[in-house]
Amino acid sequence: MAAFGTVFTPEMIISRFNDNSWSTPEMVASDSIKLHPGAHVLHYSSTCFEGLKAFRHADGGVYMFRMEKNVARLQQSSKLLALPQFEAAMLSQMILDMVKRFAADVPTPPGSMYIRPTHIGTEASIGKAAAPSLESLLYVLLSPVGDYFAGGSKALRLLLEDNARCASHMGMVKSGGNYASALQPIMQARATVQADQVLFCPNGDVQETGAANFLLIDGNEIITKALDSSFLHGITRDSILTLARDRGMVVSERELTVDELLERAQKPGAEAALSGTAAVLTPVGTLIHAGKEYTVGSGGAGTTTNALRQALNDIQWGKAEDKHGWLTKV
Ligand code: PLP
Ligand code: COI
Repeated sequence: MAAFGTVFTPEMIISRFNDNSWSTPEMVASDSIKLHPGAHVLHYSSTCFEGLKAFRHADGGVYMFRMEKNVARLQQSSKLLALPQFEAAMLSQMILDMVKRFAADVPTPPGSMYIRPTHIGTEASIGKAAAPSLESLLYVLLSPVGDYFAGGSKALRLLLEDNARCASHMGMVKSGGNYASALQPIMQARATVQADQVLFCPNGDVQETGAANFLLIDGNEIITKALDSSFLHGITRDSILTLARDRGMVVSERELTVDELLERAQKPGAEAALSGTAAVLTPVGTLIHAGKEYTVGSGGAGTTTNALRQALNDIQWGKAEDKHGWLTKV
């Protein structure tokens, strides 16, 4: 299968914000957009995006997972980047229209259709270094995908990094700049200790990785950082915590320090995992900090991690009842 996110449907849906109003959404070729080289996004990074998936069920039907949450998060990201505001109903309809049009291209499990709504500031004004773009483009790309992590569910190696991923008030914004600012530490971690990902822990506070949230599982307890502005409020994180509560687990959303993490992770039976739309729930087998390697539990995929991933997939794939009303039929 092609690398994650490199194959696109031939069309995308777009709407432009100009003269204080949104244009009627239209389907256009997905391989190019007209953009002035002085566009705000290209200089001052006024860009945010979403990632959600549509799944094909055994009866052939196509269902999207928690679309409203992703739409709401893009509205929030747009607001925090001072981009023009849009109605949730408009973007929801754009997403629905796109997935309907390309429903035949939605892969069967474990594949899915990755949906990438994107919002960029398009005003041609390089003088606006400290002012918002008054024009923007909202578009929805579709990409049929398989596994994000090449090794499937192989347990990952994470390097704990003492610096932040991005500015502390911007972590909850799903914006391009946050990903750009995390690149150097990620590349360095790959080159120096062959880490798969970096776990950002500024001042000893365990936050998240470059593309997923982090969860520690110790017996019946699942521990992850409480929501604040410093990291992305993952929709998979929320779903996994809900499924953990459904199973009678104790969910602790609170500060987790590097010291506590390293101590508890080494206990027999401890598990750690990354949650995200692309990552689903991927086990973490090794933590690397200050030149030392720590094996998490047995070092492989834990039984609770596997069970929670399965429970999530079962709902997404239509094999278990959608008790929480997370699916939208296309
Ligand atoms: N954190 C970061 C930095 C991400 O890029 C993602 C992926 O979207 C997540 C967390 C997980 O978010 P979600 O579960 O909504 O996909
Ligand atoms: C997602 O999980 O949707 C993300 O945004 C991560 C991305 C690197 C594919």
